[in-house]
Amino acid sequence: MGLMDKHAIIEKNATLLLVGSLLVVTVGGIVEIAPLFYLDNTIEKVEGIRPYSPLELAGRNIYVREGCYLCHSQMIRPFRDEVERYGHYSLAAESMYDHPFQWGSKRTGPDLARVGDRYSNEWHVQHLSAPRSVVPESIMPSYAFLKATAIDVKDFSTHLIANRRVGVPYSDDMIANANADLMAQADPNADTSGLEGRYPKIKLGDFDGNPQQVTEMDALVAYLQMLGTLVDFKTYDEAAGYR
Ligand code: HEC
Repeated sequence: MGLMDKHAIIEKNATLLLVGSLLVVTVGGIVEIAPLFYLDNTIEKVEGIRPYSPLELAGRNIYVREGCYLCHSQMIRPFRDEVERYGHYSLAAESMYDHPFQWGSKRTGPDLARVGDRYSNEWHVQHLSAPRSVVPESIMPSYAFLKATAIDVKDFSTHLIANRRVGVPYSDDMIANANADLMAQADPNADTSGLEGRYPKIKLGDFDGNPQQVTEMDALVAYLQMLGTLVDFKTYDEAAGYR
């Protein structure tokens, strides 16, 4: 009896075929899923990734509050057209401290995962205040009120504590300095040595063009300007053997 004839036995017996299929699916499932239970972490650690600074986190809260995610994704897929338009594809590690994630697939506007450093602070303020003044065909709403709204921080350490509860490694030092760090990042005259030690690669300065007060615009622009800038992809790709 050849192999094909033996196979005919299974094909002609529905119960045997069902039992056989279940067996194959079960073994395949175990092989795929079981190893995940023995890993502490399924996200590859990548150099440069750090928790958001308090001002960036405040900006991120505004981003979520205003529903920017309804039109913008923050996830560059590993396809040639996306990589050519937006830059290196997103790494899982780049959103490991995101609560909630901003991945998404709804792109009424462009992906923002690497918008940091692409434009000046002035461009962002102008664009967010009056999108059609810089991109005439834009359908993005105006967020000019952010510039007129002083940021209401209250006790910002509570935001860091909440994130720490869900696994973001904010240190006691970061939590103790949350309010001071938030104001210092947008104050060109502040002593920022401690802040820069706590949050490497942090961008400092008066983001909204109004040094008199720290506004919601400062926070949102600080957040946009850091998006996708933490990983040095030259060294990352070399280390991974891609280049
Ligand atoms: C109704 C959909 C919509 C909403 C909501 C929206 N945007 Fe946009 N956004 C767009 C469109 C369309 C563009 C492309 C045209 C332009 O540049 O204005 C855009 C462009 C941008 C750009 C420039 C990106 C680039 O690479 O050129 C940034 C930055 C941006 N939006 C940020 C935001 C932020 C922050 C919010 C929330 C406060 C927001 N958007 C809300 C539709 C939207």
